[in-house]
Amino acid sequence: MSNNNSPKQFPAGFTWGTATASYQIEGGAHEDGRGPSIWDTFAKTGVLNQDNGDVACDHYHRYAEDLDLLKNLGVNSYRFSIAWPRIQADGTGAPNQKGLDFYRRLVDGLRERDIAPAITLYHWDLPQALEDKGGWVNRDTAYRLADYTGHVVEALGDDVARWITINEPWCVSWLGYGIGVHAPGIQDIGKAVAANHHILLAHGLATQVIREKLPEAQVGITLNMALSKSATDHELDQYATAVANGNHNGMFMGPIFKGEYPEIMREHYATASDNFAVVQPGDLEIISAPLDFLGVNHYSYSYQAHKTRVAEARAAGFNYNPGPANVYSEDMPGVPLGVPGRPRTAIGWEVDETGISDLLLWVKQEYTDLPIYITENGAAYQDYVNDKGEVNDNDRIAYLNAYMGAVNSAREQGVNVQGYYVWSLMDNFEWAEGYSKRFGIVWVDYPTGTRTPKASYYWYQNVIKTNRLPE
Ligand code: FCB
Repeated sequence: MSNNNSPKQFPAGFTWGTATASYQIEGGAHEDGRGPSIWDTFAKTGVLNQDNGDVACDHYHRYAEDLDLLKNLGVNSYRFSIAWPRIQADGTGAPNQKGLDFYRRLVDGLRERDIAPAITLYHWDLPQALEDKGGWVNRDTAYRLADYTGHVVEALGDDVARWITINEPWCVSWLGYGIGVHAPGIQDIGKAVAANHHILLAHGLATQVIREKLPEAQVGITLNMALSKSATDHELDQYATAVANGNHNGMFMGPIFKGEYPEIMREHYATASDNFAVVQPGDLEIISAPLDFLGVNHYSYSYQAHKTRVAEARAAGFNYNPGPANVYSEDMPGVPLGVPGRPRTAIGWEVDETGISDLLLWVKQEYTDLPIYITENGAAYQDYVNDKGEVNDNDRIAYLNAYMGAVNSAREQGVNVQGYYVWSLMDNFEWAEGYSKRFGIVWVDYPTGTRTPKASYYWYQNVIKTNRLPE
């Protein structure tokens, strides 16, 4: 991992930020009229150590301190998400003023500190009442999200220029309804296809609402993408790779940028989805309406070998890889593989920064020249506070340095990258992994809530100040 050949200098006006999400940091789970979300429910059974977001980083009460951390860091933008169940406890009806007030305080606090808010409307905390009616398998949920979007945009729109409709629809549909390792924990490929379509429809409908109410706003969606590579050039491995990439990237990029699901996925899911019966006339037009930017989240990628060829892939030097893009699903023809000896983060994801530059070049070549923001990139490591009270997370600094360099290299090769948000501002509730995985550039002592900036925070502060990576 090195970025010796990568360009160091970023252009003037580059967006530097950090990202968080409501359920992961807020806490205050039962306050001021917030209703239960699917993650409150799922945490009881599906999360390591039965950790939950009841308190999390207590950001709901400590937000002013967190805004000061952002100010001192020097970012010009901050990406956070709105908890839908704070705005509509059961996902419908009139908005809860106390919920809106919290985000008004947050937006005002950012404005006072000259930091531009970038709001994610949906980062996975679906009101449980809507899941009880079928969640994302139910088409109506898309209309409910559009309605909720209207309330948020009316309350905060004057002061927020950048809107992200949905965070990582792949995780919502495939981890939530296909593989079941995320809320609501359902394992059903047909339902996952339905969820995949309805969450994209929700994106399209929310985009319409924002356009109507805020014609000047920038609207985009955040996708988690990774390009799998074929372990060998055998045609079965290549086929497995194409299906993996279709599931991970094409099921979203296709409808959004080309107004169609990829042929290979229509075939793959034909039986499970009754030939995509959930797609109604006009849906793909709504989903493919023009956007102002694309948000890209990337952490790692994998190699793929066909299930029947794992022995050959092992002989060719690959091993099992539990990377983020690669969660193994029964219906996939391939299995995700990694390269022995390649560094991995504490969550097991392989580190190779060419994954992000290759991905960005591919997006440009195959789909779009829209402005791109890296809306998440970062790494979990086994951090600890030393006896001087410091967290010297040099491995995270090396990761960020390499990946930022690769992003900048793609930019120099013509990709329209305009900004980068580190995941995450602070350690937080890492979904199914609970509090066991720390992604922050600020350490959070969970029992007390005390925040301690890590070495990577100061490193990033310097990158932002100089607008370049260190030599
Ligand atoms: C992404 C999520 C984010 C965080 C990182 C590590 O998939 O969007 O909330 O958990 O992974």
